[in-house]
Amino acid sequence: MIGLFDSGIGGLTVVKALLEKAPKADFVYLGDTARYPYGNKSQETVERYAKEDAEYVIKQGAQLIIVACNTASSLALPKLQETFPNIPFIGVVKPAAQAAAALGRHKIGVIGTRATVNSGIYEKVIKKYAPSAEILQRACPLFVPLVEEGLLDDQVTKTMVKRYLMPLRQANVNALILGCTHYPFLKPLIQRFMGKKVKVIDSAGTVIQQAMENYPDLFLAQDNPKQTITFTETSSASDQVASRWLGRQVKGVKADL
Ligand code: DGL
Repeated sequence: MIGLFDSGIGGLTVVKALLEKAPKADFVYLGDTARYPYGNKSQETVERYAKEDAEYVIKQGAQLIIVACNTASSLALPKLQETFPNIPFIGVVKPAAQAAAALGRHKIGVIGTRATVNSGIYEKVIKKYAPSAEILQRACPLFVPLVEEGLLDDQVTKTMVKRYLMPLRQANVNALILGCTHYPFLKPLIQRFMGKKVKVIDSAGTVIQQAMENYPDLFLAQDNPKQTITFTETSSASDQVASRWLGRQVKGVKADL
């Protein structure tokens, strides 16, 4: 079974890619909606939350964990691997950074939570693959609650897209990494604001692709696949956004960590 977790519904953007590529695989998803956002918390807190999240999905039977959260991938991946040495972990940062570097475009914007941006991890990984790239980063902390509230096409969200992204548009970035798994929910608004020439990148598809190549057995079609979506705080708002996003009825199960 594949385990995935995020601070909230953002990691469902990765679940969507999973369902597109392996619709009948077993998986359990945990959204830590009771404690989101992670993006303005300290490394110590994010590590602690991520460990508890991982423990929960392991208890549900996960044999591989996709850390479907950039903040946890940026701050807690080494700690997770050290704490659970027998479980492989795959984060979402490296695939997005590699995809951006591979484009050969040299002015790359990165948006993410404050914690991800401050960690400097995207800059480090992109530079490894594209040393001459110019990287401009911007934290967009209000995007996460706007997505959690389902305000995906609301005027207030459009205003925030403009406010956060204007400096990147004015700087003429030619690629933009969505360095937070909540942001693909806003991709249409972001793409419209940045213009068609800007390549908007998220890592959902690539991370699933890489996981499938490395652990093919876990992605095999099952006759009666166990596909569970759990939240630490269940709500009709999360269920609605999740159902709309995944195109299937979602009723989140309460997770007690
Ligand atoms: N979806 C998350 C990320 O990719 C977490 C956002 C948050 O909780 O602040 O960073």
